[in-house]
Amino acid sequence: MKIYRNAKLRQKKGLFDIWVDGEQIVSIRAHEDNTENKENIEEYDVAGRLVSAPYVESHIHLDYVYTANPVNEAESGTLFEAIDKWSDSKSDFTIDYVKALIYKGIYAEMSNGVQYIRTHIDVTDPNLTALKAMLEVKEEVKDYLYLQIIAFPQEGYYAYEGGDELVEEALKMGADVVGGIPHYEFTKELGEKSVKKAFELAAKYDRLVDIHCDETDDSESRFVENIAAEAFYTGLGNRATASHTCAMSSYNNAYAFKMMSKFKKSGINFVSCPTENCYLQGKYDGYPRRRGITRVDELLQAGCNVSFAQDSISDPWYPLGNGNLIHQVDFGIHLGHMMSPEEISHGLDFITVNGAKTLHIDDQYGIKEGGKASFIILDAPSEVEAIRQRAKIILSVHNGKEIFEREPEHIVKNLPFL
Ligand code: FE2
Repeated sequence: MKIYRNAKLRQKKGLFDIWVDGEQIVSIRAHEDNTENKENIEEYDVAGRLVSAPYVESHIHLDYVYTANPVNEAESGTLFEAIDKWSDSKSDFTIDYVKALIYKGIYAEMSNGVQYIRTHIDVTDPNLTALKAMLEVKEEVKDYLYLQIIAFPQEGYYAYEGGDELVEEALKMGADVVGGIPHYEFTKELGEKSVKKAFELAAKYDRLVDIHCDETDDSESRFVENIAAEAFYTGLGNRATASHTCAMSSYNNAYAFKMMSKFKKSGINFVSCPTENCYLQGKYDGYPRRRGITRVDELLQAGCNVSFAQDSISDPWYPLGNGNLIHQVDFGIHLGHMMSPEEISHGLDFITVNGAKTLHIDDQYGIKEGGKASFIILDAPSEVEAIRQRAKIILSVHNGKEIFEREPEHIVKNLPFL
């Protein structure tokens, strides 16, 4: 038995003690100083810091991380140039090389409090090298990390010859989620056909869907309506996700307003990648320059689920990124104009509960009596301070195991006025 004492819990007043036995949280009680029978009990003093459910990475490409240099730096910094650069170089990669990248990405994320990852894996490769690497890693880390793999056709179902067959093959091999990228297909009709195909495959293999959708400033890119319609009519509902939907910020308000109720009715989730899309979009704007992210506030007001995600760590699409999702919260609430005290205090939802909904892991997620002992301790006393300071994670506990620990920041003050 171990007690994590003096813990601040999200959206709760006072301090709590979290009692852990083996893999489970057996009790959450108001903090008390003394406990009987101390010999059999280990203690950890949380010292009033915030304890949260682990971060959920709802959208990353683990097979791309740290490939910015081998693939050469993008010249224009646009999404489509990056896809071309990637296409030229990926065939040289081996399973061992991709596994090494994946492990570097996993380390970056886990050391910053992530314990659940949904990763897109490029399957527009006749050898499916990255998928083979990812499936091996998934098995190797399963005791420490929950991983969901998306069969993602980076170069399209139809723009890449045989892309649709490769997605299906990836699902047979064990991918958990059907991906797509309709705005990259040659025509609107082929984009729509690819969305339909993704939902057909999801029904055939009983999988989730997560589609890169309308990642462009083109206000005419409206594949999100196809995803909503397919989710509604097939009944897949909240098992489907539209990632990016950047074009939504360029839609006219009459169309966007009409669609909000349809999105809610369809049940689809949305994933926004604030830093990545702020960088990739707006490239053709001059000034005024758009911010690149979707209508996060309006989607939330309509009752839709939205999570924030990293997307890239130093790859052809984005030169920075470090796996620390609280940066995405900080950027996301700024770019989305969501800065009221109430909105800031719920900022961590974007990388915790909202991400868990998208991954469909609600049943195993959260800090609750009888639940799995999986949580993180932030070096901050509250949600607002955690975001304001972009707090570090000082302890990450997964199913009762302490998997990452970091010394709290300590500053020596030598100034006479402090
Ligand atoms: Fe992506």
